[in-house]
Parts: sequence; structure tokens; C-alpha cells
Amino acid sequence: MPTERPSAAPLATTDSTTSPARPAKPNPASPHLRDLVESALDRRGFLHVSFAGSCAALMSGVRPAAAEATRRPTVPSGELFTFANIPPSQSDEVVVPEGYVAQVLYRWGDPINGIAPKFRPDATNSADDQNRQAGMGHDGMEFFPLPGADPNRRGLLAINHEYTDQILLFPDGIDPPPPAKMPLEKVRKSQASHGVSIVEIARTDDGSWQVVDSPKARRITADTPMRISGPATTKLGTDVRGTCNNCASGRTPWGTYLTCEENFQGVFGTDADDFKPTASQKRYGLTPSGFYYEIDGEKRSAFRWWQQQSRFDLANPDNDSVRYGFVVEIDPQRPDSTPVKRTALGRFRHENAELVVAPDGRVVVYMGDDEMNEFLYKFVSAKPWQAYAVSGTSPQTSGLGVTGSSPLDEGTLYVAKFDADGSGRWIPLVPGQNGIPAKRSPEDAEGFDAADICIRTREAATAAGATPMDRPEWVAAHPHTREVFVSLTNNKKRESADAANPRVQNVMGHIVRWIESENDPTAEKFTWKIFLLAGNPQHAEATMHGNVAGDTFGCPDGLKFDASGILWIQTDMSSSVMGKPGFEELGNNMMLAADPDSGQVRRFLTGPVGCEITGMTLTPDRKTMFINIQHPGEPSDEISDPRTPMKYSQWPDGPDGIRPRAATVAIRRRDGGIIGS
Ligand code: FEO
Ligand code: CA
Ligand code: CA
Repeated sequence: MPTERPSAAPLATTDSTTSPARPAKPNPASPHLRDLVESALDRRGFLHVSFAGSCAALMSGVRPAAAEATRRPTVPSGELFTFANIPPSQSDEVVVPEGYVAQVLYRWGDPINGIAPKFRPDATNSADDQNRQAGMGHDGMEFFPLPGADPNRRGLLAINHEYTDQILLFPDGIDPPPPAKMPLEKVRKSQASHGVSIVEIARTDDGSWQVVDSPKARRITADTPMRISGPATTKLGTDVRGTCNNCASGRTPWGTYLTCEENFQGVFGTDADDFKPTASQKRYGLTPSGFYYEIDGEKRSAFRWWQQQSRFDLANPDNDSVRYGFVVEIDPQRPDSTPVKRTALGRFRHENAELVVAPDGRVVVYMGDDEMNEFLYKFVSAKPWQAYAVSGTSPQTSGLGVTGSSPLDEGTLYVAKFDADGSGRWIPLVPGQNGIPAKRSPEDAEGFDAADICIRTREAATAAGATPMDRPEWVAAHPHTREVFVSLTNNKKRESADAANPRVQNVMGHIVRWIESENDPTAEKFTWKIFLLAGNPQHAEATMHGNVAGDTFGCPDGLKFDASGILWIQTDMSSSVMGKPGFEELGNNMMLAADPDSGQVRRFLTGPVGCEITGMTLTPDRKTMFINIQHPGEPSDEISDPRTPMKYSQWPDGPDGIRPRAATVAIRRRDGGIIGS
């Protein structure tokens, strides 16, 4: 039933625009380079064998309408994307192609609704204020249409807030330093800056977007009550507070949002002198200090939440570290709904959750564990998702998975093994199978039962012989062909190369693609190829050398298809390498479009100084794209200074601001056309 929508009153000044578009010439790879890439990767043969006829689907729907063509750059016809590329940039702004405009929409500290407090740029907002403002570290996000509203003019944005820069978050940084306790107010503000925002946004007649007042606006934070579901509840119980380190995202066909807990280990720790981590805690990177800054030669623990709340204290036998590291499902349409941690999807440093529906209706969720030499996973539900429908709910707008039984609670978790001959296997993580020892008694700490698989997932995957990967970040499935891609961002700790991770010193990262056997997402076998090795093909230094056809980049991270089949790639070159030899030519982090058929890559957007580009979602008509700018102004040592917060970046507020701020950016074409095409 249509819902009456409130008026589109803007909540914040969101009219900051980025730099004017900069003309740039398309930069197709030379025939020589292109031949090199094609022969090394055998891309055409791979596609031909696997998806005869898929190219027509790829090309359909991406040609410009005649009316839109008048202001477009001149480009060869028949290309999947047709914008004019932009050069690398070191400037402190968002740069987009000629004919496009980018607009800052939702910054750290912006109010989520009409009654939330305004941002104080000196970071003096309280924890209670922060609970009703945008969190920090914007990351994955999804756009959800609202019932009864034009889905291309109004909707909900669910936005992850991955982490906090603990120094920029407060006027005086992390003071008082240890051994003094982190004050409760600071712990609470930090927790309120993590999590998820649900905000309502609307497009105005001039095409710009604004956050508007909404009964659906809410913040979900590291203190929000959550439910736990799935096999691990036998050990974890069914209740927990909070989600944090919400990295990338996913969405379900029943209208819910998936947010992925990644570097949760940083907020756990202990001051107990006699604390000794268990083997499992070690495997998950849980240490007494948690995440820390090294300042003046001293290790300064940055979060210290455990000093105020024992659930974050590793010395507490029932601490919550085993209740973090999950995929969390949120119903964006129901502000009073309780988020649910879906333990069947495993516990690790979840990057994103790419959900596809198999021909038989079962859901398959692809997931990377972002740590050096960790693994790639997929979950397959036991039954078609429609079998779980709760009567009286609408699949398009309800959260049946949140309130009722869920396809994300019953199924099999698999881990990937990549063989050198281009084949691969999904190994089921099942106690007593595939080298995974079954639990012999409740005291058996090495064996596994169904709950252990969901809690000590990494250890089960190692026992099963999974292939250690070069930091699996986002996974993206092609909307037409079902081919799947994963970005492997870099790896400094690889001891020997293998076919799927071919560089021992993988400073630039790469992208692997695969097709499931019979093109069935539930299959246990697949064939794979390397899509590309990031880096400049002409770079003399071997570790910097890649085979990108078109515009070069390093450290792929965000990866997402749009409905036309463009693979959007976002980079996360760390601040510590940006500008250093091999990276200087690449400038700031960026976003590129890739054609999975031709392998051509074209630079679409560059971000301000010190940022990473992450998160991408589109309106259904693909005429507005939303992306996130995370940690603008991050120094090369990744330690901000509360006395000079704008030393490296003034983005997005310019000289009138006091702190750089992560923000969501809306991108559209001046002629109102489809993004990328
Ligand atoms: Fe949150 Fe692996 O990036
Ligand atoms: Ca990432
Ligand atoms: Ca990253």
C-alpha cells in the first residue's frame, strides 16, 4: 500500500559540488598491449566456452538514447561504457568525466533526520549527538526504493560506517593516553560512529539529491541490540549488542540489507596482565591492545572499549569477540526491526556479501575474508528462498528474513580451492568431512560441530585445504552471465606464488574471475582465470608491473556490477604507499569501469587526497550513482593529528571546515543519461 511520504525538506547543506569536469582523452591500450593481455589470460576463449551468446546480453540496454547522445563525448560505438576517461589526480577533490557532476550528499556528522543535532566541525558533538548523525568511515551501501514513491527520485540509503579515526573523532584525539582509561563518553561516541545509517534521500527538480526527514531514518551502532541466528546460537546464545567495522555490503531479493563485520578484532582487547590468547583468538588477530597507533615510539591502544564494557574484554570468558565477525541482516523499511547476525555465513573478516539466486531458487552468498592468506567462501541455502516466506509479507519491501525463518540460517558453507589447471572446487565445511575433525566431546577444543564451523570458520577452512588468497575483498557476480569476480587487493606476506595468486610480492593486487560448473551457482566445481594483474604494463619494476588494458591502477578493493554488465572497480592504495615509487603515477585512489568481455579498463573518478573510494549503488534507472569517500586526508603514517586535522585534505567542506569528513557522493550526468553508458 502506498505510504504518504514527507516533503523533501533538506536537512543539511549538501550543495557542495566537486571540481568541474576535466576533459581528458580516451586512452585505449595499444594493440600490442591488448594482444599481450589477451594471450596471457585467454579471456576470449574462456568466455566463448562458457557463455556462448552472452555478449548480446551484455551489450543490450547500454546504447545511448538518441536524445541523450547530443552532449556525449565522441566515442566508438558498441562500447560497454562510453564516458571519456580522466587522468590520475593528486588534487584534493572528486573528479568525474566531462558531462558528469558529483555532489556531496551525506557527510560524517550530518543529521539523519529533521530533529537530529547538527555537526560541530570541531568534533565536540556528544555520543548522544553522534547516535543521530552519520557515522565515520563510509563504506558499502545499497539504495532501496520506498513503497509508493518514484524509485528514481526517492528512496532509502543504507550506508556502512566501517571504522573511526579515533583521533579525528574527538577534539583532543585519544587522550588521555594509557594507562588512563578511555572515558566512557569517548567509548560511546566511538561506538555510535560505527555501524549503519539508514537515511531517506530525495532528488530535487534540478537533479541534485538531499537527505530528507523520514520516519525510517535510523542509526544502527556498536550498541544496538541484535539477534543472533543460525547454527552458532547453541554456543553464542541469541542476543548481542552491536555491530561494528561494517565494511562492505549486500542485499537480498526479499528487500533486506546485508552489512559485513570486518576488522572487529581492533576494538577488543584487555588490560589483564595474565591474558593469554587461545589459538582461535590468535587466528582471528585478537590481541591485548586491539588496534593501536604508534605515537612517539609508543604503542597507544586506540579504542580501549574494554576499559568501560567487559563484553569487549578478552579476559572475560564470555566476551563478545565470538559474536562479531558476521554478516548482519537489516530491514531498512522497518525502523523498529532488530538486526540479525547470520552465523551460518561464517565468522571472519567479512568484506561483502554478494548474493545471487540459483535457477532453483536457492540463494548463494559469495564472501571474501580480507586478510593476507585467508580465503574465499560461499554459502548455499538449503532450500529456495521463497520456501521461507512469511505469510502476509511482500517480498519486495518486507524483511521476511529478519522476522521469520531465513534461507540465511540453513545451508552449507563452502571454501574455495583453486587448482593450477584452471579448475577449482568448493569444499563443504562439514564436521567429520574434508579433513575437518568432528568434535569428540564438548571439551574438545580442536574438533568441530556445526556451531564451531560458524565460529572458528578460518580454522575449519584451513583443515579443509582451502587456497590462501591475497586478501579477498569484494566479490561481484555478473548480472547476466553469473560469472563471478573477486578483487585480491595485495599481499605482503605470501611465501610462494600459486596459479591464482601468481605474485609473491603482490603490491598491486589482482582480480580473479570464475564460472561455476554448468553455470549453476550452487555447483561444487568451477573454472577460473585471472582477469587482470593491477599495475602499469610498462613499468620497469617487476612488482609494479601489471597487465591492465587501458587505465592503470593499483590495489582493487570495491567491485560491483551494474545492470548493464559494467564491472566497477574501486581502489584502496594505502596512504603509506601513495606517491611512493611505483604508485606516484597513479595519484589518489580512484574508481574505474571495466568491460569483462574486452578487458578494457577506463578511469571514471578520482578522489581527494588520502581517501579510499568504496561502496557503490545506483537508482534503478541508473541515472544516479552513489559512491563513498572514506578517510579523506589520511596521513601516510595513518595517524591523524588533532591539532592539524586538515593538513592533507580539506575535503569536503573546504577552508571553512575544521576536519576532513567521509561522505557519500551522488553522481549524475548533466544530460540526465545513464551513468557509464
Ligand atoms: Fe573494509 Fe577489506 O576493506
Ligand atoms: Ca574494502
Ligand atoms: Ca581495502
